[in-house]
Amino acid sequence: MKEGQPQAIHLKDYKVPPFLIETTDLHVELNEDETFVTATLRFTRNPDAENEKDLMLDGGKDLDTRLVEIDGRELLSNEYAIDDQSLTLFGVPDSFELKTKVAIKPQENTALEGLYRSGDMFCTQCEAEGFRNITWYLDRPDVMSVYRTTIDAEKKNYPILLSNGNAVARGEEGDRHWVTWEDPFKKPAYLFALVAGNLEFIEGTFETMSGRSITLQIFTESHNIDKVDYAMDALKRSMRWDEEVYGREYDLDIFMIVAVESFNMGAMENKGLNIFNTSCVLARPDTTTDAGYERVEAVVAHEYFHNWSGNRVTCRDWFQLSLKEGFTVFRDQSFSEDMGSETVCRVDQVQMLRAAQFPEDAGPMSHPIRPDSYIEINNFYTATVYEKGAEVVRMYHTLLGEERFRKGSDLYFERHDGQAVTTEEFTLAMEEANDADLGQFRHWYSQSGTPQVTVTGEYDSDAKTFTLDVEQFCPPTPGQPEKAAYHMPLAVGLLDSNGDDIAFTAEERDLATVRKDGEYTAVLHLREPKQTFVLGDVSEEPVPSLLRGFSAPVKLTYQYDRDQLMFLMKHDSDGFNRWEAGQRLAIDVIQEVVGQIQAGIEPMVDERIVRAFEHVLNEAVERNDDDGLDKAMIALMLALPSEQYLGELSEIVDVDSIHAAREEVRGAIARQLSGLFLSVYKLNKSEEAYAPEPTDIARRSLKNAALAYLMQPSDTEMVSLCVEQFEGSDNMTDTSAALRLLVNSASAEARDAKEKALTDFYNRWADEALVIDMWFQIQAACPLPNTLERVDALKQHEAYTLKNPNRARALIGPFCNANPVNFHDRSGSGYRYLADQVIELNGINPQVAARMLSPLTRWRRFDPGRQKLMKAELERILAQDDLSPDVFEIVSKSVEQE
Ligand code: PHE
Ligand code: ZN
Repeated sequence: MKEGQPQAIHLKDYKVPPFLIETTDLHVELNEDETFVTATLRFTRNPDAENEKDLMLDGGKDLDTRLVEIDGRELLSNEYAIDDQSLTLFGVPDSFELKTKVAIKPQENTALEGLYRSGDMFCTQCEAEGFRNITWYLDRPDVMSVYRTTIDAEKKNYPILLSNGNAVARGEEGDRHWVTWEDPFKKPAYLFALVAGNLEFIEGTFETMSGRSITLQIFTESHNIDKVDYAMDALKRSMRWDEEVYGREYDLDIFMIVAVESFNMGAMENKGLNIFNTSCVLARPDTTTDAGYERVEAVVAHEYFHNWSGNRVTCRDWFQLSLKEGFTVFRDQSFSEDMGSETVCRVDQVQMLRAAQFPEDAGPMSHPIRPDSYIEINNFYTATVYEKGAEVVRMYHTLLGEERFRKGSDLYFERHDGQAVTTEEFTLAMEEANDADLGQFRHWYSQSGTPQVTVTGEYDSDAKTFTLDVEQFCPPTPGQPEKAAYHMPLAVGLLDSNGDDIAFTAEERDLATVRKDGEYTAVLHLREPKQTFVLGDVSEEPVPSLLRGFSAPVKLTYQYDRDQLMFLMKHDSDGFNRWEAGQRLAIDVIQEVVGQIQAGIEPMVDERIVRAFEHVLNEAVERNDDDGLDKAMIALMLALPSEQYLGELSEIVDVDSIHAAREEVRGAIARQLSGLFLSVYKLNKSEEAYAPEPTDIARRSLKNAALAYLMQPSDTEMVSLCVEQFEGSDNMTDTSAALRLLVNSASAEARDAKEKALTDFYNRWADEALVIDMWFQIQAACPLPNTLERVDALKQHEAYTLKNPNRARALIGPFCNANPVNFHDRSGSGYRYLADQVIELNGINPQVAARMLSPLTRWRRFDPGRQKLMKAELERILAQDDLSPDVFEIVSKSVEQE
């Protein structure tokens, strides 16, 4: 262990802030070489805190302090002390005004936390602890203050000067000008924002439910102003939805969004002034894919929803992060479900949970949605806090039902408006508004790990009962060898031999039935480690449909045979479980082939998977004119489970056999059903202009799913079909799908076509950063041999830079996360590559560097040879000097934990 290692912070050590800051007055003078920040803060002693003589403020090591003044008197050098991260004021009075002046250099801030430059503009990112890099402060979310901010900058290059709230004064002098902004709502420092630049904007208005008119503005650099109309529409839809579904109205008179090219995350909910990564706000048909459009809509909604779930009611401390994030993700998920197809959204959500959260929960960084400790809070913006957090909120909704859930959220917002609270307050509001007992439910906040639920079913033909024996078990995770049983909703249906739902009965205390359009579902409350549910009035031996809609974030086991899965795939009234049955069937069949490959036997693909896909495709052909969202579902049903998820399901991940087996199964399906795939492809081609409408998106997804199978063997004819789509398409969804298939094709026919397509694509889009990101992504994700050589060469490309997080992630991310055969190459070259990137990025942008590491942290899941290589790379990283706390935390937890 090296000296001065970063220390962990624990939830149990929480103390209320020693002082409160009533008002925060900032004066920011922006210059090219040095920026001066003068802060005038009105402090009063917190009546709830223990009386301490000295006051310690947070600050980053790059604050160059020029002035410290209390109540108008400059302090002597023995009246305060400054170190790398704090300013201590000795012997302060109970109430006083502090004035400090610091000089900072945003142009050198490559970590992109605090005030920094994105291209020619200045912008900020303060969550979680970036504000301390701007000025000395009590930088913690339970210190809430009213802000008044004056920005002073050169006029020509920074005509637009923005901060939170309303612009209340402005003026100019010579070649400089200034604007003062006032935010009437108290907020924690992490919601502060400032932007200065030569920006253009579009404007809209929204009339709220109480009849107030809100000005909406979206700002970008001039070359992107043609790509923000969709975000404006999405914003209006979000504002309406939050009024209708949660009764939440917007509070300020103006709401602004600014798009920036260099940003560590997706976007940020700063009060009245959201700042977005361009990747989450820009959209134009020829540059943005359908998935991109959906992401813009979801992220715009997410950040807007934070205005209530996050800003009006905020977090007491960072251990409570899921209070705002889990809830807000659930809100944006429900919004997307309402805008498009509920089932398609649900499948996407669950795929994401399984791809990112389950592995995290099974690895060295496993943590509860409310963690007990952290070294670097930036490392806890995780799939667990966000996505599992959203699942936990969804379970309240499932257990209580729509109406009672709303009663709970109303109480929560009303009671805690203007406060900084904990997850406990959320649970209490849900409990007290509904007179419900959620005592046991609280384990979801404190326990980590993915629960396993095992179900067996037995039919009694005399009693006409179907008995479900359910067991739950949560495996040990770091620091938590044993778990208490969870309270979770188990949504269950029973299918008769026609495939219709049986209207069964269940014991009163377990039952909340959902009946709609031929669907009959009971929500069973699972509470015990082992619990038996007797379902009555079951006229014949049923096939159970379990965990409908993925009613709890668990791994469910039930011994289905393949015929039952085919039956569920065809008939289940629950769309999610129809998809799930198809996945289970595919997993079963692929795993069988994995076994054959490992045993050195000739692989044999079970015919039944081909027949199941044939049925799905026939349905697609026969019901082509339905024109519904079903097409998106069909496309999802045609997608085999990913190699990563298949790996996740095996004890030791055999990367090569999984890849080979999946390709074998895909090949069998592609060969035997090529005629049908071609019909589906042709039926779903359209000459109509692009629209990001759910039904059009569905149609394109089905068409491109068919094209992917057609390109599996990729003979000359199919390659030309693909080239034709690449060249003829008017939208990025079809263009990029075709490019990806050409790049991934191993056939000789595709060889020249792919190089030409890549060159043409680059030349066509060289000025569109987000499209060039995609160009890097597609090449880095290619499963063919020699991809690492290409990735290495691309690192030298003129368009590549580690300094822009989107660009860095575009090359490193897909190679390490979506390209298992190449990343896990036996030689260890992929591991070495990732470690090199992390080491280099550590000095530039620690937060992004640390996030890249996750594939290496999973080393325990692989064979001994790979384990050794992966661990060696982690140790090489750990041995570096100047390791950031971000990277240190993840690497050290990965190698130490046994
Ligand atoms: N709070 C942001 C969101 O989820 C995410 C974020 C975290 C952005 C940290 C930047 C930094 O909406
Ligand atoms: Zn969020």
